[in-house]
Amino acid sequence: MRPDSLKTKIFLDSGDPQETKEFLKLLGFLDGQTTNPSLFAKSPEVKQRIEGGDKFSKEEIYIEYKKIISNIAELLPGKSVSIEVYATEETPVSEILDQAREMNIWVKNAHIKLPLTISGLEAGEILVGEGVNINMTLIFNQAQAGAVYSATRGSEKGQVFLSPFVGRLDDIGVDGINYIKNVLDLYKNGDGHVEVLAASIRSYEHFLACLKLQADIVTVPGKILYQWSEDNFFIPDEKWEYRADSLEKKSLEDIDLDRDWREFDIRDELTKKGIEKFVIDWNNLLK
Ligand code: E4P
Repeated sequence: MRPDSLKTKIFLDSGDPQETKEFLKLLGFLDGQTTNPSLFAKSPEVKQRIEGGDKFSKEEIYIEYKKIISNIAELLPGKSVSIEVYATEETPVSEILDQAREMNIWVKNAHIKLPLTISGLEAGEILVGEGVNINMTLIFNQAQAGAVYSATRGSEKGQVFLSPFVGRLDDIGVDGINYIKNVLDLYKNGDGHVEVLAASIRSYEHFLACLKLQADIVTVPGKILYQWSEDNFFIPDEKWEYRADSLEKKSLEDIDLDRDWREFDIRDELTKKGIEKFVIDWNNLLK
């Protein structure tokens, strides 16, 4: 059962409905689930088919993704399920919108994941205006967080998630947990319409640090949720400290959340690399 002092929503980071079932049972609750093209590719049914040499046509791959998402959503009634559009850096807004609108009717309570490109943000701005829930993903710097806030101003709380990637920042020597803290601090100057969903959680310490920071949401691989259950669903107290001494800590920038999103420099090498990796993983599944 959900611990009383838990302030952060717990999502499972997985493309496998079997894991949804397993961790729902282990924890007694889950607040939602996130998927992405790489996690979809790792889903057992998809893996088995590809290993058998049977790749998907463009139509079939969406049918399979929809099936997996529907299975997950059925296990999590009323909870958010994130579905990611296929997009390269060049994908035009119209194509992102077509996919997003289609995915949005696959299940109730979908959050459509859009990469942080100019087209992704433009699509996000339009979609929130249509009442679609979005999850802006592959977020690595403070200007990107400012731009998402600005592009989605006026949306309802719960409609917009921002997914900063902790582990991928750590990978390049930048403290990802410190980045989450900076984004939470930045958003304290705002109206609270964007929820911070800490992603790319690679260790139990990352997970506990997100609980201590009281991030709105954290999405977690099953093996870390398992460690949490072994630790009797520990909630970090004042004494508990996250240490990442070898990683660079960036300072909180002076970001004006009232600026137009087009004025922010949203480019980031990690966003570019992340898009490339998702594109490769998705295309590897295609005939
Ligand atoms: C979830 O929304 C993210 O796509 C996921 O957490 C990325 O994790 P990774 O950096 O370990 O691939």
